[in-house]
Amino acid sequence: MKKTDGHSSDVPSNQIEAECNLDESRRNFMKSALVGSAALSVMTPWQMAEAQVAGRATNRTIRGVGVAPGVVQISSNENPLGASPRAIEAVLRHMGSSNRYYRSSALESAIANLHELDYEPPRRVPGQPRRIGPILMAAGSGQVLHSLARTYFENAGDEMVAAVPSYGSIERDWEEFGGVVHRVPLKDYRHDLTAMLAKVHRGTKMVSICNPNNPTGTIVPYHEVESFINEVPEQVLVVVDEAYVEFVGDQNYRTSISLAATRKNVMSIRTFSKIFGLAGVRVGYAIAHPDVNEKMSKYHYDNGISLYGKVAAEAALTDYSHQRNSRRLAIEMKAYFAEQFADMGLEYVPSESSFMMVNLKRDARPVGRALAERKISVADAERRWDMKGWMRVSVGTREESEAFVTALREILTTAL
Ligand SMILES: Cc1ncc(COP(=O)(O)O)c(C=O)c1O
Repeated sequence: MKKTDGHSSDVPSNQIEAECNLDESRRNFMKSALVGSAALSVMTPWQMAEAQVAGRATNRTIRGVGVAPGVVQISSNENPLGASPRAIEAVLRHMGSSNRYYRSSALESAIANLHELDYEPPRRVPGQPRRIGPILMAAGSGQVLHSLARTYFENAGDEMVAAVPSYGSIERDWEEFGGVVHRVPLKDYRHDLTAMLAKVHRGTKMVSICNPNNPTGTIVPYHEVESFINEVPEQVLVVVDEAYVEFVGDQNYRTSISLAATRKNVMSIRTFSKIFGLAGVRVGYAIAHPDVNEKMSKYHYDNGISLYGKVAAEAALTDYSHQRNSRRLAIEMKAYFAEQFADMGLEYVPSESSFMMVNLKRDARPVGRALAERKISVADAERRWDMKGWMRVSVGTREESEAFVTALREILTTAL
C-alpha cells in the first residue's frame, strides 16, 4: 500500500471548487427525475425569500428532502440537501440492469484512487483463495463496526478501550458478546488519548477513536493520533472512525488513512451516509492492512452492497459540487447555531462536524418533546449519552435550521 499525504478531506480542492458542468440534456433528465420528490418547496419563491429575510421560517412551511411535509429531521446527521444528484442519476441509469449481478470493481478503484492506494481488482482464479487488499467494502460503515466487534472479540473478558461519550457502536456489541470496555471520559469534549493509552495493556484487543467525534464534533490532531499509535502494542487494533471527515475545517487536521495504509494495526473507516447524502443506500468502507481485512473476512461479508449502492457511491465520490455545497451549508448552519445559542445564553461545543451539541441548562427531555410536537426531531443526548441538559442538533437547510431555532426560542420562554 502506498502512503497518502493524509490531506484532510481527500477531495482535490481544485476539483471540489470546480463548477458542476451538467449539460442541458442531463439537467433536463435530472429535473424530470426529481419531479414529485420532496425536493421542491410548496412556498412561492417570494414567500420563501420573505421568510428567509425575516429569519422566521417555521416548519409548517417546510418541505425537507426525503421526509414528509412539515417534518424537520435534524436528529441523525443526515445530509439535508439530499443525495448527490449524480448518484441519483446513476441509480436511475442502472435500474434496467437490476436483473444482473453487478461485478464491477469501479467503486473500489475510485476509492483507491482517492486515497492513493495500490489496488488491483480481485481476479477470481478457481481453486485459489481470493486475494484480499487494503479496502474492505460494507453496506454502511456501521456494518464494519459490527464486524470488528465480532472479529476481535474472541474470549469472555477480552478488553477494548473507547472514549465516552462517543458513537459507541463497537462498545455495545463488545459488551453484548461478553467483553470488557474501558470507557475513558472526554477531556474538554475531546478524546483524552493520554488517559486512553493508560488503559491499554497486554490483554487489550482494540481501541476505538471517533475523529471527528460523534456527538461532540471535536477532533484530535493527527500528531496525537500518530503518537498514540506509536505507543500502542502492535497486537492492538486502533480503529479510527472518520464518518464526518469531509466537514472538518481545521487546517491542521489530517485523516488517519496514511497510517492505515502503512501500519499493520490501524483501520480507518469512512461512510457515504453523510456528506454524500446516501444514508438510506448503505455504503461504507474501511482501509486497513490486508492481514486485518483477511482476519475480518471470517465474519464480514463484503459483497452486500447492491448495484444501486455501488453506482451511487461511485458517482457521488466525484460530485464535487454536491460535496462543496453540503460542506458549505454545514459551515454556515453551524455558525448560525453558534450565534443563536450564544444569543440565547446557551453553552455549545464548537463542532468540526455536521452537528452541534447545545446545553439547555435545564431538563432537555420536555424541550425535546415540545420540539417533537412541532414535528422537529433532534437527538436526545441524555438518553443516548447520559448528558443531562444537552441536545445534539444536526445541521438542516437554512429553513429547517431557522424553524428549529424559532421553535426552541418559543419553547425556552415557556414554562414546561
Ligand atoms: C461516527 C459514526 N460512525 C458510523 C456511523 C454509521 O454510519 P453508516 O452505517 O450509515 O455508514 C455513524 C452514523 O451516524 C456515525 O455517526
